[in-house]
Amino acid sequence: MKVIITENYEEMSAKAAELIISIVKNNPNAVLGLATGSSPIGTYENMAKDHRENGTSYKSVTTVNLDEYVGLTADHDQSYAYFMRHNLFDHIDVKLSNTHLPCGSASDVAAECDRYNALLENYKQDVQVLGLGSNGHIGFNEPGTPFDSVTHLVDLTENTIKDNSRLFASIDEVPRQALSMGIKNIMNAKSILVVVSGKNKAKAVKGMVKGEITPDLPASVLQLHPFVTVICDKDAASEL
Ligand code: F6R
Repeated sequence: MKVIITENYEEMSAKAAELIISIVKNNPNAVLGLATGSSPIGTYENMAKDHRENGTSYKSVTTVNLDEYVGLTADHDQSYAYFMRHNLFDHIDVKLSNTHLPCGSASDVAAECDRYNALLENYKQDVQVLGLGSNGHIGFNEPGTPFDSVTHLVDLTENTIKDNSRLFASIDEVPRQALSMGIKNIMNAKSILVVVSGKNKAKAVKGMVKGEITPDLPASVLQLHPFVTVICDKDAASEL
């Protein structure tokens, strides 16, 4: 696991964007595994800026996202589909038809999970971007999720509901369930890029990088992947 420690969120975001842009430049047909949340927003801003200023093209890129809340349609402003359009897709030339997320409003959840797993078999991520939960989750794979899990329905923990409530009008509005890629789908990526910032993540970063490899801290599984880059600011790295 390669760990790059940056001064702050801005430097973390610039470095992460650089890495993704170089993958796209080397392979215009790249498959990008993407994440939502606060951590990658700056990365996406840098990608959009680079697209505007340097013309890096995403015309032939395919994207697959980690997860989506259950019960929210793609036009709900807290859905991850909306987040991705707002923070990235509307600002680059990716074809929306080449962007994929689990469908949170699917009536048949099991069939939706099967569909997404089959899609991931076709689109192996050249890079999977991850944020890190303060409890060590990746995607919505909460502590205790088996390492061989594939896309599945998740009951969010109180901890995650609380963490995510800052984006909703009230904690009662935060969905209680999500569809998430499983740990196996994440580990299938050819390379993995984790972006982490802030003191509240320091303990999880330590567990991910040098703790025991255990489902109790899902991100610790990344120690078993041959090509992982962690870009974290010095606050997030403070317990390393
Ligand atoms: C988002 C996701 C989550 C977040 C994690 C960190 O698609 O799957 O695992 O990456 O909860 O969230 P932030 O970046 O908001 O601290």
